[in-house]
Amino acid sequence: ELPTKVTIYEVGPRDGLQNEKSMVPVDVKEQFVRRLLATGLPVVEATSFVHPKWVPQLADAEELMTRLGEDGKGLPVLVPNERGLDRALELGLRHVAIFGSATETFAQRNLNRSVDEQFAMFEPTVKRARDAGLDVRAYVSMCFGDPWEGRVPVEQVVSVGQRLFDLGASQLSLGDTIGVGTAGQVTALIEAFLAAGMAKDDLAMHFHDTYGQALANTYSALQSGITTFDASAGGLGGCPYAKSATGNLATEDLVWMLTGLGIEHGVDLDALVATSAWMAGELGRPSPSAVVRALSQS
Ligand code: HMG
Ligand code: MG
Repeated sequence: ELPTKVTIYEVGPRDGLQNEKSMVPVDVKEQFVRRLLATGLPVVEATSFVHPKWVPQLADAEELMTRLGEDGKGLPVLVPNERGLDRALELGLRHVAIFGSATETFAQRNLNRSVDEQFAMFEPTVKRARDAGLDVRAYVSMCFGDPWEGRVPVEQVVSVGQRLFDLGASQLSLGDTIGVGTAGQVTALIEAFLAAGMAKDDLAMHFHDTYGQALANTYSALQSGITTFDASAGGLGGCPYAKSATGNLATEDLVWMLTGLGIEHGVDLDALVATSAWMAGELGRPSPSAVVRALSQS
């Protein structure tokens, strides 16, 4: 039996834009976030407080969050370490997300740390965030496959994921960073987390659509009772530190399927498609989302 209601966790302004080569003006980012919120999306991850040399596109994080003002304070942002947390705290933000790796190679490439060393970075970050009353989400990347290490063992993902969650996170998002996972693997991974004692509501799924599996994988996770799904408006995205990572599951594709299944999501699809079509114009290329293309043809 499928859930009757799901939460869509929009990552377009962060995961969607972080890989864009040409700088997107901050006023376009501000409009993007505001328009996404206006579609009824309950959560919009806005940006990252990472090192600006590592992700130049999001070097304007302070300016974006300042422009968003009160409207931005409840929006989650990525913070890898205490320096990132300090930047978020200075702006009065209330939701942060840490992002760990299940594999050694990606931990090195994305965080300049080993899998163990990443915990030394996250532990004081989460502790201070929680002491300051912030909500913390944890991501675990490379949950199914890794471009350098191949298929990632389920026990390895569960062990790193559980450890990240136990630092004090309210939710663990399972990332298929390079979009190689398939539906059976999704069921197996969720079952392994549930067997390890995690609750369904503590888990979110974060699919990238590189191999066109994101919707099938979503359906599989719905069957396992998962109720939070990360998605990116227009299917934008990719990770600059993982070769072969393309866009996330497109929010429009997710909304279309959920509506068809009669699952409540609260999003105005027309307003969302209009937003992604506008953003595609700003970026100068068509949206990879099938639903955006189908609904924005004139
Ligand atoms: P590092 O070079 O090891 O940093 O990078 P460090 O701790 O050695 O510090 C070096 C200098 O950087 C210091 O300055 C720090 O102050 C400064 P100095 O003293 O030399 O003048 N610094 C910072 N400045 C601003 N903001 C900060 C910050 N931290 C240190 N937060 C670090 C380590 C983690 C910072 C770096 O590796 C980094 O920024 N990585 C981020 C990579 C990233 O953003 N990747 C994309 C997001 S993850 C993703 O997309 C996957 C996901 O979508 C899920 C999925 O799909 O699986 C979430
Ligand atoms: Mg991602």
